[in-house]
Amino acid sequence: MSQKVLVAGATGDMGGRIVKALLARKADVTALVRKGSDPKKIADLEQAGATVYQADLSNIAEIAAACKDVSCVVSALAGLRDVIVDTQLNILKGAVEAGVPRFIPSDFATDFTQIPVGENRNFDLRKEFREHLDKSPIKATSIFNGAFADILRYNTPIFDTKNKTIVYYDGKKDWKVEFTTKDNAAMFTAMAALDDDAPRNLYIASFSVSPQDLEQLSEQYKGEKYELVNKGSLADFSASLKAWRASDPEGETNLYSKWQQAQYLHSMFYAHHTKLDNDRYPTIEWASVESYI
Ligand SMILES: NC(=O)c1ccc[n+]([C@@H]2O[C@H](COP(=O)([O-])OP(=O)(O)OC[C@H]3O[C@@H](n4cnc5c(N)ncnc54)[C@H](OP(=O)(O)O)[C@@H]3O)[C@@H](O)[C@H]2O)c1
Repeated sequence: MSQKVLVAGATGDMGGRIVKALLARKADVTALVRKGSDPKKIADLEQAGATVYQADLSNIAEIAAACKDVSCVVSALAGLRDVIVDTQLNILKGAVEAGVPRFIPSDFATDFTQIPVGENRNFDLRKEFREHLDKSPIKATSIFNGAFADILRYNTPIFDTKNKTIVYYDGKKDWKVEFTTKDNAAMFTAMAALDDDAPRNLYIASFSVSPQDLEQLSEQYKGEKYELVNKGSLADFSASLKAWRASDPEGETNLYSKWQQAQYLHSMFYAHHTKLDNDRYPTIEWASVESYI
């Protein structure tokens, strides 16, 4: 009999990709969606082959009913405290009540366990949920994928295709930053969801590149060498981010406020992987930086 996996946040970008990757692995997939989710997205999930379960995500009994016979719950929810801590906690409680043995939280990030509290608001919320998860009887697995590779295609400071610049911080010109495509992260997550022996933390990257590598790649693939810009010390950056956050309380209600985006940049230069688990599932074809940039 195929394993039954429940995906929360299935109407989202990552969640939808995880559902498709699970279906491609012949899993039996339940998509847990909140009441009021876009009917078109629900119809797409059903058409793809998932069983959609609409529930009030504040109601633990309803969540537990959706979790019947499930071997792993995967969360790909996105949001602030009400989602990452409160709603994920409800889903965790429902999963525990239903006797689900495994849970993959909506982490999909740089390894925030290495990053001190106060440096990245969205990571602090994940850390808070992680404490609840580690106190529960369920076996958890977090997927740390660094940054999603798409950011190399926008005008983000790490590879600014408009201004043709690449920022770095003191002593970090050759600091490797992990990037993972959403499809690679989704397939790895699906395989981890079906892998009862998966450990607490799994570290992946489609590719790891430093600012110096990106400079070379810009010359090779963008026809022009982007300028490396030293933005000073990471400690000064951290202090300026704290002041910026304090001056913009409205940003606390915005998932991707400007200072939060800058906190992600800080995190990329603060923590990186020291090992990779890419080979755990050898059938995955990891995207290369050349094919992506
Ligand atoms: N490492 C990176 O570079 C990176 C970049 C982007 C995202 N991520 C992470 O990837 C994960 C998924 O993000 P995504 O971009 O796929 O998100 P997304 O497309 O915005 O999808 C969010 C999902 O969460 C659900 N949701 C939002 N608010 C909710 C609420 N109050 N109650 C219940 N469900 C709610 C949405 O349901 P509805 O359809 O009903 O609204 C949707 O299914 C998150 O952990 C995010 O932080 C990482």
